[in-house]
Amino acid sequence: MKNLEKKVAIVTGGNSGIGYAAAAELTAKGAKVIITGRNKEALAKAEKELNVTGIVSDQSDLKSIDSLVEQVKNQFGKVDILFLNAGIASFAPVDSASEEHYDSIMNVNVKGVYFTVQKVLPILNDGGSIIFNTSINAHVGMPNSSVYASSKAAVLSLNKVFATELAPRKIRVNAVSPGPVETPLYGKLGLEKAEVEGFGAVLAEKILLKRFGQSSEIAKTVGFLASDDASFITGTEIVVDGGLTVNAVV
Ligand SMILES: NC(=O)c1ccc[n+]([C@@H]2O[C@H](COP(=O)([O-])OP(=O)(O)OC[C@H]3O[C@@H](n4cnc5c(N)ncnc54)[C@H](OP(=O)(O)O)[C@@H]3O)[C@@H](O)[C@H]2O)c1
Repeated sequence: MKNLEKKVAIVTGGNSGIGYAAAAELTAKGAKVIITGRNKEALAKAEKELNVTGIVSDQSDLKSIDSLVEQVKNQFGKVDILFLNAGIASFAPVDSASEEHYDSIMNVNVKGVYFTVQKVLPILNDGGSIIFNTSINAHVGMPNSSVYASSKAAVLSLNKVFATELAPRKIRVNAVSPGPVETPLYGKLGLEKAEVEGFGAVLAEKILLKRFGQSSEIAKTVGFLASDDASFITGTEIVVDGGLTVNAVV
């Protein structure tokens, strides 16, 4: 259903994986979509394939966020939907995790998300929708995921607090928390291919539906939260994990 006509949406990290699928879904629903990312070539490719506007922007760099907002303002005026999807993941045990590991994840996944919201707010229409992409890692104690997991837990806190701060402007704020989804992210974890495959097989067995999710399945949740179908939903989280986090302990 084309229920996002006349809406303008920003999807951060829209040149790959879940962000790419979300940009496709919001476009199919009638929205004009702007995607961001650091990789210029991947952005140009996605721009062409999806018929969206690509803007090179690094979420960990506040000046780059300023420039994104300026470009969106000049080209589109105001926006209605902000999907904060851009994020990175890498794993390390607590006894050897470096400061660089900590800062790189926190700068993109928390600081960048925080200031993107702050800087987009002046061009976000009242009645708009903000959606965070968090993770089930925020809820579980997966070994070696401490920095990534806590970055996503921080965003779940922002989700609740921003929902209260922005309610006077009728801006709804929600989060989607995916379980394992097949995306290029797994090639960026710093693990060997065999390790990723082994880890994937163990994980898939624990998912009630016995498979990884598809980016399109997360994108449909984003499309729902962005639309008036979710008009009474704010400050909440939708877990899309094939039942992984409710699987029985015994
Ligand atoms: N895949 C999963 O199983 C899963 C599960 C739960 C949550 N998530 C979350 O879903 C989101 C998307 O991940 P994905 O799986 O779709 O991975 P992906 O295919 O690697 O996509 C990540 C996207 O984020 C962008 N990005 C990364 N750092 C950025 C930065 N500093 N500035 C701007 N853009 C940046 C990337 O573009 P550039 O590299 O060009 O910058 C890319 O478009 C992440 O927040 C991730 O934590 C994924």
